[in-house]
Amino acid sequence: MKIMLVGNGGREHALAWKLAQSPMASEFVLAPGSDAMMQLASDQIRVLRFDDIAADNVLALVTLAQEHQPDIVVVGPENPLADGLADKLKLAGICVFGPSAAAAQLEASKAFTKELCARYNIPAARSKTVSCEIEAARYLDTLPGPYVLKADGLAAGKGVIITDDLQQAKQDAKDMLCGQFGKASATLVIEEFLTGEEASLFVLCDGKTAIPMAGAQDHKRAFDGDNGPNTGGMGCYSPAPILDEAMTQTAMEQIIKPTLLAMTKEGKPFCGILYAGLMIDKSGPKLIEYNVRFGDPECQVLMRRLQSDLLPVLLACAKGNLEQLPPLQWSKEPAACVVMAASGYPGQVKKGAKIGNLHNAEKEPKTVIFHAGTKYDHKQGWLADGGRVLNITASGADLSSALDHCYNAIAMIDWPQGFYRRDIGWRAL
Ligand code: AMP
Ligand code: GLY
Repeated sequence: MKIMLVGNGGREHALAWKLAQSPMASEFVLAPGSDAMMQLASDQIRVLRFDDIAADNVLALVTLAQEHQPDIVVVGPENPLADGLADKLKLAGICVFGPSAAAAQLEASKAFTKELCARYNIPAARSKTVSCEIEAARYLDTLPGPYVLKADGLAAGKGVIITDDLQQAKQDAKDMLCGQFGKASATLVIEEFLTGEEASLFVLCDGKTAIPMAGAQDHKRAFDGDNGPNTGGMGCYSPAPILDEAMTQTAMEQIIKPTLLAMTKEGKPFCGILYAGLMIDKSGPKLIEYNVRFGDPECQVLMRRLQSDLLPVLLACAKGNLEQLPPLQWSKEPAACVVMAASGYPGQVKKGAKIGNLHNAEKEPKTVIFHAGTKYDHKQGWLADGGRVLNITASGADLSSALDHCYNAIAMIDWPQGFYRRDIGWRAL
């Protein structure tokens, strides 16, 4: 089968790595893909790469799909989904794993999701959607704090501000409404601060059937001890101990299934992977946010644990026959991921530093390194080419030994300009 994969990060490298193991896979069409993903080419797998087609260039992606007629298009990031890539591919008669633009609203508009939760009694933080400063200030005055301000639209994971100080919150609301996150923050969601433990639940959906895939826990802050700025994620592990079978069932019954039913009722059935960010306390799970794609780096640990062939799973979602899918098989071993980022991330970073000894690091047992932002130079070898650069993943008899493998591999990597958190997994250990 021919698989077109949209994206170029660590998440897409992990998806490609897993899909390449499918006996049904014969060809990848990558847009834009990465040098690391090119290395998946083998006697069985042909890899074509279109590095000039960006992951958010919907029209070019549709044209590419029409030219190559893949058996399935797998979309990694959220932006092209919010911009209607899945709709346009379907219109062109091409099978796609990923939701329609209407269903992608679950991620693309926090106001949409809050309104849906309110209307269908889905447990979430109390909130108000505002688009003017006075309204924002008035609602903030009614809250005890800390204050949570969210840009309504897509802001690359950076559109949430939390502060203890009411005056600061009012100023932040003003700045956001005045365009701090561009159009994304022209409308804000202001919500009550939730306490508890955060976990992410990934659910496969085909518009009718929903199958919980797995849970994971992420580390969003840049530095050890959950300090520093928010990032796209500095490391994670799966399973998440707090999302045991009973809690997963509760989240499915109270949050996921009511959401999917609501979406279908509203004429926006959701197909693809639904990623629910949950806050869990004694009263049960509450929804923090939805994403309409795999998490990055959560996808990487899911792919390390999944034993079933991924290709039929994605095809079943895309074709609407998930109910016929045999139960997913998972490794008994947990998996962990430690992200190596370029110094300066999540702010400005310098590109082009040489990364040495990756080849030896990859010999660490049970370890697989996914590339999130690298480039291969024929003279110098691997070079850093992004903010998050490498995803060191490992499995192990328990989480602690999985993490030992990750950190042993990192110790071998020669890249002084990189940094990583040394406390991944602290909550679960
Ligand atoms: P989001 O982009 O909505 O996932 O928010 C980013 C992070 O902000 C989350 O992972 C939480 O750690 C935190 N957060 C978001 N909403 C809330 C809330 N209502 N209460 C407490 N923390 C929150
Ligand atoms: N790691 C968080 C995200 O993918 O949104």
